[in-house]
Amino acid sequence: MSTGLRAAMPPHPLFFREGRGPRLTDVDGHTYLDYVLGWGPVILGHGHPGLSTAVAAQLPRGATFGAGHLLEPEVAETVIARVPGAERVLWSNTGSEATQIALRLARACTGRRRFIKFGGHYHGWSDAMLVGYRPDAEGRFGLGSRGQSTQAMEDVTVAPWGDLETVRELLRETDGDYAAVFCEPVLCNSGVLAPPPGFLEGLVDVCRVTGTVLVFDEVITGFRMAHGGAAQRYGVEPDLTVLAKAVAGGFPLAAVAGRADLLDVTTTGVVHAGTYNGNPVVLAAAAATLTALDAPEVYDDFERRGRDLADGLRAVLTGSGVPATVHQVGPVVQCIVGVRDSTSFDDFMQADQDFYDRLIVEMLSRGVFALPGGRWYLSTAHSDPDINETVEVFSDALDAVLEAGPPPGGH
Ligand SMILES: Cc1ncc(COP(=O)(O)O)c(C=O)c1O
Repeated sequence: MSTGLRAAMPPHPLFFREGRGPRLTDVDGHTYLDYVLGWGPVILGHGHPGLSTAVAAQLPRGATFGAGHLLEPEVAETVIARVPGAERVLWSNTGSEATQIALRLARACTGRRRFIKFGGHYHGWSDAMLVGYRPDAEGRFGLGSRGQSTQAMEDVTVAPWGDLETVRELLRETDGDYAAVFCEPVLCNSGVLAPPPGFLEGLVDVCRVTGTVLVFDEVITGFRMAHGGAAQRYGVEPDLTVLAKAVAGGFPLAAVAGRADLLDVTTTGVVHAGTYNGNPVVLAAAAATLTALDAPEVYDDFERRGRDLADGLRAVLTGSGVPATVHQVGPVVQCIVGVRDSTSFDDFMQADQDFYDRLIVEMLSRGVFALPGGRWYLSTAHSDPDINETVEVFSDALDAVLEAGPPPGGH
């Protein structure tokens, strides 16, 4: 069985045999240009030689030791050298685990309980964090899953992304009891929205003044939007940064990096556990991935190819008269069909997802694998000809959808 969201991907769950560079081959032998990249981690493309060699070299030397090994400090030093504000690093396995330990650190260090997050931001599937991701039919933000503890709601306030005044007011409430503010510094999970100018700086200031821990969830943006992630791209320094996905090129590794005084409390009674935390196999993968991402042209190429893909998709949509918006930040592109000039989370929520689902099915049948919801990830393995091929496929797929049914509702 395919799991969770993957089982719900249109037209039906897909089963792949292998991946090479930017392409996947399914069990029936069809190949696809891959813009899903494992939902983001596969930043070097599939089967990257340096990454494969590093992991293969580690495997016969042991999978996990339940004790320290030299790759832990070595890769931590690399993270510290790249990520703004990183003085210490804690290793975890997944982004969902790492956001929880970030919250625990913030609570331990401030003695406060609650946190602020923003509507549409995703910080993993845990009971504590899966709140305020999508509004209900009445536009209210609440729990994200059946079976979740209703208590989660008591610990969180959901604010509108970009609204600094609301955050300031909340943090100045004397009984607000806020330990932390969490955000995706680029709202990748809901429209690939860059932060409004000055917003991240404003969060840094108000958190500093009120003694609140600012957590950048860079699970998507880390090592992707720049060497040092979104914090480097926008020139700001959070207190804590959560990393996952790209950091190990497809292997399950996550991290919390940040201020020494916040992370050092794990030596004085704050529990950060996990059998597989920082095992040598995933850290060998991380060392190789971060080395590959050090090549001088990587982030310039991401920017240029991201722009080329976004421009290509935009031109096709405009040429077909389909109301749409295409956003791009670095190697992440977002297609919002059915909404012209989309600039906000609310606009993103107006996108015609049924139309887009039909579009990705038509793309799949022509050899392009893209995420439902409109986000596209580029890897270092995608070339200029791959982008050109993709834009042609997108154009043919759009024609097919428009021939078969009505255009998307326009906003
Ligand atoms: C911004 C963000 N934070 C946290 C997570 C959770 O990470 P994981 O799926 O590794 O648990 C995700 C996953 O997509 C994410 O996009």
